[in-house]
Amino acid sequence: MGPAAIEERVSKTVVSLGGQRYCVVIGRGPLRQLGARLRKHLPRKTCAIISDDNVAPLFAKRVQGSLTVAGFEPRLIAIAAGEKSKTLEKAGAICDEMIAAGLDRHSFVIGLGGGVIGDISGFVAAIYHRGIPHVQIPTTLLAMVDSSIGGKNGVNTRDGKNLIGAVHHPSLVIDDLEVLKTLPAREFNQGFAEIIKHAVIADVTMFRALQAWKASNALALQRLIKCNIKIKSRIVAKDERDQTGKRALLNFGHTVGHAIERAGDYHKFLHGEAVSLGIVVASTISVKKAGLPPEQRGAIVDLLRRFDLPTRLPKNLPRKKIFDAVKFDKKFESGKIRFVVTPRIGSARLSRDVTMEDIREAVDEL
Ligand SMILES: NC(=O)c1ccc[n+]([C@@H]2O[C@H](COP(=O)([O-])OP(=O)(O)OC[C@H]3O[C@@H](n4cnc5c(N)ncnc54)[C@H](O)[C@@H]3O)[C@@H](O)[C@H]2O)c1
Repeated sequence: MGPAAIEERVSKTVVSLGGQRYCVVIGRGPLRQLGARLRKHLPRKTCAIISDDNVAPLFAKRVQGSLTVAGFEPRLIAIAAGEKSKTLEKAGAICDEMIAAGLDRHSFVIGLGGGVIGDISGFVAAIYHRGIPHVQIPTTLLAMVDSSIGGKNGVNTRDGKNLIGAVHHPSLVIDDLEVLKTLPAREFNQGFAEIIKHAVIADVTMFRALQAWKASNALALQRLIKCNIKIKSRIVAKDERDQTGKRALLNFGHTVGHAIERAGDYHKFLHGEAVSLGIVVASTISVKKAGLPPEQRGAIVDLLRRFDLPTRLPKNLPRKKIFDAVKFDKKFESGKIRFVVTPRIGSARLSRDVTMEDIREAVDEL
């Protein structure tokens, strides 16, 4: 293998957000040097590795081993896999376990898992001793291209998703493509919903590349992940605290997507699958309210299908449940809907002209 190929095995992207700069390492195998890498970033000894009971048996030993060799004292905390664990109670239980293990304000947290683990471990890092460093090791494609970037974390409540949380940027993110090999196909594909969302709202060139996407090219995947990190961090940098409406563009497909997740009681659809359906609804509304050419809506739907993502709602899912859930969504301000539309692939804007009736019609068509 020549120097160029070695160079390409691992690439680094620096993300500058909220006055902080941190590195995202992407490639095949960077987890093997985790301990040595962390030594450069964190002169601390004790840490909690927060993971779930699917991921921990696969990768925790590798992570613990590398950390121990580098002189760290890691404590593994594995919680039950899945969205049901993303609660305030579970975050509290993790904090209790960390206190019992003697972790203090000089410790740090590693999140080893998908978006659920990224969100809850980031939340724990944000509140433990009023904030300790967070290292993200995303193990799903969705977490690599989306949830590990931007600093948002949080937990769900009875009334909706991510209603409690904080903004707390990681100190380091390690995207090791090797871990994706154990990811079930359905979980892998759902990552493409967020990738397609990024393409629709910000990058027509990436959209075209996805139309010609051939599976299983590791280098192409590495570049794709890097491209998505850049898109997301560029958008977040313009509006880190979600105040000017610029960051809200990342919610394209999510107003209805979140409602569908909720209507499916958080187990019928994966997050990315619900977002895929939400993207179809947002594209339909964009034709009506933003002048999106109908053939571009067709191209978006075709691209979602290409990655085996759902574009039709099952007949037995009551539409009413979805409308009720839309009302709970926090993307409403003083009763008005903040709905993201795309006037053409590669661009997006916030619209306040979209009504509940528009959403009802578009969901009925699904
Ligand atoms: N903070 C943000 O900005 C943000 C953005 C998007 C999504 N999210 C959140 O992310 C979550 C969804 O993330 P997700 O889809 O990664 O879910 P997840 O964390 O539940 O992971 C999906 C499933 O795959 C398993 N898994 C993870 N990595 C694996 C691997 N390498 N091999 C085998 N199995 C593996 C997990 O145990 C789980 O069962 C949602 O809670 C969503 O709200 C957050």
